[in-house]
Amino acid sequence: MGQQLTAPITVTPPEQLREVRFDDVMETSISEILDRYPTAQAALLPLLWLCQEKWGWISPGVTAAVAERLGLSPAFVEGVTSFYTMFLRRPPGRYVLQVCTTLSCQLCGAGGLVEHLKAKLGIDFGETSADGRFTLVDVQCLGACGEAPILQINNDYYTDLDVERLDELLDGLK
Ligand code: FES
Repeated sequence: MGQQLTAPITVTPPEQLREVRFDDVMETSISEILDRYPTAQAALLPLLWLCQEKWGWISPGVTAAVAERLGLSPAFVEGVTSFYTMFLRRPPGRYVLQVCTTLSCQLCGAGGLVEHLKAKLGIDFGETSADGRFTLVDVQCLGACGEAPILQINNDYYTDLDVERLDELLDGLK
């Protein structure tokens, strides 16, 4: 396909994320983020993203640590992580498959891709395959309608997909 395949997520297990402390490296990054925003609350999204890049997902322990660091309530942080599908609140597989099921993608065959993915992986939306490789997520418009149907794998877009290309793609992800 001429496209470099997506790197897997390194997922930190739940038992290591019950109580979270930010190390010096994280604190340096957090300070840089805070310097760019007018309020601590405004820095919430980039800080959550930083945490997810480090640990692979946002555990309740991460939520609590972020809330404390920014002077927000854990409920507020939880409200934000539960609103945005990009934040993973359970340990994911190594590859998170986000399928756009909005109209343009549906008209270009997303429904068939979804059925194929569910049958091939033996999972439904919100679930992770038994081998820990894939998590399947239903998302709304990814902003690339002109290249529908779209699948986002971790941070990468794969466009103009059909079942054959999808199989080729998944088989290359170990
Ligand atoms: Fe799928 Fe916009 S409808 S990317």
